[in-house]
This record gives sequence, C-alpha cells and structure tokens, in this order.
Amino acid sequence: MARADYISIKDVSKLFGSVAAVDQVSLDIRQGEFFSLLGPSGCGKTTLLRMLAGFEQPTRGAIDLDGEPLIDKPAHLRPTNMVFQSYAIFPHLNVRANIAYGLRKQRLPRKDLRQRVEEALDLVKLTGLGDRQATQLSGGQKQRVALARALIKRPKVLLLDEPLSALDKKLREEMQIELRLLQQSVGITFVFVTHDQEEALTMSDRIAVMSLGKVLQVASPGELYERPNCITVAGFICQMNFLPARVTQANGNAVSLDVKAFGAAQASGAAGLASGNEVTVALRPEKLKLGSAAGAMPNRMEATVEAVAYLGDRCHVHLRHPALDKPLLVTAPTDSTLRQGSRVPVGWAADAPVLLTA
Ligand SMILES: Nc1ncnc2c1ncn2[C@@H]1O[C@H](COP(=O)(O)OP(=O)(O)OP(=O)(O)O)[C@@H](O)[C@H]1O
Ligand SMILES: [Mg+2]
Repeated sequence: MARADYISIKDVSKLFGSVAAVDQVSLDIRQGEFFSLLGPSGCGKTTLLRMLAGFEQPTRGAIDLDGEPLIDKPAHLRPTNMVFQSYAIFPHLNVRANIAYGLRKQRLPRKDLRQRVEEALDLVKLTGLGDRQATQLSGGQKQRVALARALIKRPKVLLLDEPLSALDKKLREEMQIELRLLQQSVGITFVFVTHDQEEALTMSDRIAVMSLGKVLQVASPGELYERPNCITVAGFICQMNFLPARVTQANGNAVSLDVKAFGAAQASGAAGLASGNEVTVALRPEKLKLGSAAGAMPNRMEATVEAVAYLGDRCHVHLRHPALDKPLLVTAPTDSTLRQGSRVPVGWAADAPVLLTA
C-alpha cells in the first residue's frame, strides 16, 4: 500500500531575516502522487521545494521521507531530484551526454549507461535525437532533456519548479498532459510548483494552495473548486462572485440570509452558523441563472447587462446592480439573446453557493 505520509512536512518554517518565506507548514504527500504547490509569486513555493531538495535548511520543523528524517541529509544524498524553470542543460554537449550527466557519479559500465540513456530518451519522447546538439533543440525539447536527466537517476521524488512556464501556451498545455501521463507511467512521486491555477487543476491529484508562506488548503482539484475553505482560495481558483451577507436565521444546515443586492435569500449546506453572523456568499459564474431559468430560483433580483463576452461554446455576461461595487460574472449559453443595457432576472439555488466566514 502506498503510504499516505510518504513525504511528511511537519511544522516547517523558513525565515530569511525577519521574513517568514515559509510559515509553519504541515502537510503529507502520498507515495506516487502528483502533488502541486500553488500560489502567487513570493508565497514560498520555491523555498518549500528547495527544503525538500536539501538546497535550503528549515529554520524550524522536520521533513521525513518514507519514515526517515531528511533534514540532515545533504542534497546529493537525498533520493530526490529537481527540474528547474530555466532548462539548465549544457549547450556544449549533445542530448545524450546531457542526459547521461545525471548518472555521472554512478560509474556504470558503458553498455548499461547507453541503455539507461536510450530508455530515458524514449520516456520523454526524444527517441532518435540523442546525437542532436543541445543548442539545436526547441524550448519544449530542452525541457524534455532536463526531465530525462532528472528521471534517469530513478529518484523516489521528482521536484519540479515551474518547469513549463518558459513554454508558449499551446506547447505548455500539450506538455501538461504528457508530463501527467509520464508521471503515471513511472509512478514516481511528483511535487510540482506552479502559480498557474489552471495548470495545477489539470495535472494534480492534490494541490496545496499557499499564500504568504502559509498553506491555506490541501485538496483535490474538484474539492478546491466546489468547497474552497476561505475567500483567498475561492478567489484564486477560477472565477468567483462574492456577495456580502448576514445570517438572519439558522436552522441546522439551512440558513436565511440578507444578501447584498439580492435581499432575503435561502441557502443550504452551511453548518455552524448563527443568526447575526457576517458571511460571504461565494457563487461560481455557472451557478447564476439568467432570464427564464432564474424564475425557478428561490433567490433572485434584476440587474443590467453591462457586457457580453463571446467565448465560442458559451459567453460571459457582466451584470451591474447599483448595490454592488463590482459586476456579477455569469456563464450563459451563446444562444441567449442578451443585449447590452437590457434588464435581466438573475437567480441562484439554495445549494449553489459556498458560505465563507474567513
Ligand atoms: N535567499 C533568500 N533571501 C532572502 N529572501 C528570500 C530568499 N529566497 C526567497 N526569499 C523571499 O521569500 C519569499 C518566498 O520566496 P519564494 O521564492 O519561495 O516564492 P515563490 O512562491 O517561489 O515565488 P515565485 O512564484 O515568484 O517563484 C519571498 O518574499 C522572497 O523574496
Ligand atoms: Mg518560485
């Protein structure tokens, strides 16, 4: 059975002077998992990854791998390997020599080395390109070489720091799928750093969302989307409408609310709230219904169409209401006959929102 705490990060902090780059982080990563660290620039992702690699020592806390303490092991003795954002491959060497560099300390017989390199070339889909000079490769191919060089050592854990961010959008999306398939085929635990939420949602089994050195939530992509645990996570993952509200009555999971712009409203699935509590009603754009579809909803109001953005298979409608500082964003079918400036009913079901208190 794969261990649930294969990598165990226990109350780890890293201070640079008085700045806590990583602030009391505890989390467990499963064996064979594709785990992502997601958060805005400067939130401590690289610092946490570098502590796993052994390039940085925690100021406090402990890290175990497969039940053994990692902290006192120097980087080159850890069963981890790192792939960086910049390709970090040697321009004066060919592809084969670049990949073999990963095994330079192992003194393998020439024949075995050759075989391992060929296997690694196949794995990253560079079969037949071993003799190519590193300078004659595209960005995507260079990143594959870096990946092959890291994988050829057969590490237990591969650490990847924004490895796709230098690639253009289309290539990046192709590589996301490929990298995911590669990870599944080799079964190595991947810890992947990105500030791109779409990338994290596409690739990961689970994601830790970070902000200001702290981990706010660890969950699967679906859970992060459906059940964000705070306003920061809700706003960072895809798009979300936030409406200030007050609880007027709480009855188990069902609450009555006074919601800005909507007035009296009903919501379900919110435990632990009491009358008088201030909450934020968080609604995904596809949970808001327009026109006749709004008629069947218990919570409704009328708003003005400010803009309609055509997106091919659907459109984004921006709705204005005098009580709201920001327009509401609604996803609607493209055939809806919404005109800029027209008035439209908008509504939501009792089970549509997430009610957030932090
Ligand atoms: N060697 C260092 N000395 C001083 N401060 C540092 C050092 N390394 C990182 N920091 C600070 O620690 C914080 C976290 O940095 P880190 O590089 O881990 O962020 P990040 O999430 O990887 O950001 P990015 O997405 O921009 O790569 C930042 O405030 C950064 O300025
Ligand atoms: Mg970084």
